[in-house]
Amino acid sequence: MTAPVDRLDIVLLGPPGAGKGTHAVWASQTYGIPHISTGDLLRSQVVALTALGQKAKAFIDRGELVPDALVISMARERLELADAGRGFLLDGFPRNLEQAIALQSMLSDLGRKIVLVFYYNTPSEVIIRRVTGRRIAPSSGRVYNIFNPEFTSKVEGRCDITGEPLVQRPDDNEETIVKRLDVYQKQTASLIEHYRSQALLFEIKGDDPVVSVRQAMSAAILDRCGHAVGKS
Ligand code: AP5
Repeated sequence: MTAPVDRLDIVLLGPPGAGKGTHAVWASQTYGIPHISTGDLLRSQVVALTALGQKAKAFIDRGELVPDALVISMARERLELADAGRGFLLDGFPRNLEQAIALQSMLSDLGRKIVLVFYYNTPSEVIIRRVTGRRIAPSSGRVYNIFNPEFTSKVEGRCDITGEPLVQRPDDNEETIVKRLDVYQKQTASLIEHYRSQALLFEIKGDDPVVSVRQAMSAAILDRCGHAVGKS
């Protein structure tokens, strides 16, 4: 085990539907650092009808990447907020080499660096089933899945916490997920070797049971960053 790092600056990498958001919610509560999802940030801009949201919407609906300039400045602003001072779980960013270089530069400006990259290696057939079965509670943000008993709501179509009706993301249809997987292979997958070559990558089987994924994540955070569960 290494001496504890000052900040848990962690990146979550993997194809759409690999479980990045699901495991980030748990790790955020466990280690007391925010879950920062560029997808969630962009979707809230779309709902708020901001200029950024209006530009981003068509790209998201088509399953394409939103242009780097828009996403990089949004990510920078979010990472500079006070709650990210002790670390973060960055979900969905970076998504190409340009974004990875921009992230490295913005962290370096803040005197920080990435300490760990989790890569959730997940087969495409698992992803298509998961994404088409995913349902979301809009206000709590809680994620469910109609095909997996571990993630089904107690009352069909209703959030366990708020009781609100569950919705499907507009980009969670079979046509768009095939496009998102293609974009991932062409633009994002090269980041696996990028981070492996820097000895930052920790690979996890994204189709393992949730409990195994969490055990693997907490073991890696202890081994590589010196932070034990509940001791951050
Ligand atoms: P984004 O919101 O980032 O979507 P994504 O990468 O496609 O990832 P998902 O949210 O689909 O998957 P996830 O890995 O979080 O899976 P989850 O945990 O929910 O991006 C959307 C769009 O925004 C992009 O297409 C792009 O247009 C734009 N965008 C975002 N960031 C950008 C950037 N940096 N640059 C440019 N554009 C950007 O899990 C999926 C389901 O599986 C859930 O139902 C869950 O319950 C279930 N599940 C999870 N883990 C398990 C498990 N171990 N076993 C069984 N079921 C599981």
